[in-house]
Amino acid sequence: MEAMKTSGLPDQSPTMKMEAIGWMKEAMKRGCLPDPSLVMKEDGGDRRWMKEAMKRATKSKPHDLPPTPFALPIVGHLHLLSGIPHQSFHKLSLRYGPIIHLYLGSQPCILASSPEIVKQLLKTNENSFLNRPEISAIDYLTYGSKDFSFAPYGPYWKFMKKIVMSQLLNGPTLDLLRPVRRDEIERFIWLLLRKSRGGIAVDVDAELIKLANNVISRMVMGGRCSEGENEAGKMRRLVTEVVEITGTLNVSDYVWFCKDVDLQGFGKKLKDIRRRVDELIDRIIEEHEEMRKEKKVEVKDLLHILLDIEEDESMEIKLSRENIKAFILFKPERFEENQLDVRGQHFHMLPFGSGRRMCPGMSLALHVVHATLGAMIQCFEWKAVGKDGRNLASLDMEEGIGMTLPRANPLVCVPVARLDPIPLSI
Ligand code: HEM
Repeated sequence: MEAMKTSGLPDQSPTMKMEAIGWMKEAMKRGCLPDPSLVMKEDGGDRRWMKEAMKRATKSKPHDLPPTPFALPIVGHLHLLSGIPHQSFHKLSLRYGPIIHLYLGSQPCILASSPEIVKQLLKTNENSFLNRPEISAIDYLTYGSKDFSFAPYGPYWKFMKKIVMSQLLNGPTLDLLRPVRRDEIERFIWLLLRKSRGGIAVDVDAELIKLANNVISRMVMGGRCSEGENEAGKMRRLVTEVVEITGTLNVSDYVWFCKDVDLQGFGKKLKDIRRRVDELIDRIIEEHEEMRKEKKVEVKDLLHILLDIEEDESMEIKLSRENIKAFILFKPERFEENQLDVRGQHFHMLPFGSGRRMCPGMSLALHVVHATLGAMIQCFEWKAVGKDGRNLASLDMEEGIGMTLPRANPLVCVPVARLDPIPLSI
């Protein structure tokens, strides 16, 4: 299982960190941790490595193990993870140190929560952590992990990585689609200006998600996903539901004898979400195929590039329709920034991950985040308001559940234009 990344947490004491790094080095030297190169590059190699590590660890003396809290039979440490998982991990790391071994049900897992340990796992021993955890909700929504993000590390992932870096998210394609991003940011700023003239509060979260969805769907599928409020609402709900269900811990994924039991009632919900996703994407693919037949494609969006690759007989791997559909399901964005370099070199803060499986959409995301934030700050002052419309003295920063770490409650603000009209040239 991939190491949990708990970036952005307060540091543990230097002694704890030194002990933890010492533990990993010593364990490798004494053979308590297997050699990652024996299982690397194989499907499921990281899980095999982790299981082997745990097997050796249980045979070795207790001081060879990283610390672990008391485990219960069957559930292991699952009972310690209530509510929002990363908050529980944070509490555990403060108590037990920057490297902990845990059992999530029957799945062995390492929790790493200091930059030094994360570097050991994601850089020094990268080959052992190239696969993602198996999450049944994601597997179902991606037609059996046929996408790129959750595909096991192997020939298909390597093929897709090459295509993504050379054709889909490379500099020239991003440049070609710059007018789309500029247009969407301009529409966003005009909307804020209208609200500002009327002194009307804006749900900043909702508007930013709408903007991100519009940018992504225009770049990927050539059309806005919020043309008509009805369609926009449907899309937003769908995205929120996908984030929520994929970010909730599913007991059946971890406790072996619950594997086929739908304890949390996910099955019905998932079927419904996938049916709606299918309808939406099938319709968009049909429209694209129609345009291709009629030779009406002027600027190629990412879906057209994928359809070209599907038709290209010379490709070493044949893309299936399900591969394409699973690929174009994109995750909503997290708009965050930090003074640190966020490009995977500083292990204190890894919003895009690090190493071979780090985010290939990082340049695109940073273009959009910087331009949007810049425009929001340069053009407006922001007054946060509560439900009753009164100005708030401080912001509610409570975290919600979901893979993208959403806010628990929306940020609602009244924008105040610094200049009116705004001279736009983004
Ligand atoms: C602010 C916006 C974004 C954030 C914070 C973000 C974050 C991440 C993170 C943390 C990972 C996992 C990295 C790892 O395991 O080391 C990831 C993977 C990925 N991201 Fe992003 N991402 C963003 C935007 C995008 C965009 C715009 C795209 C594409 C248009 C994209 C496509 C992907 C893909 C395909 C993967 C899987 C890569 C693989 O498994 O090899 N992301 N992203």
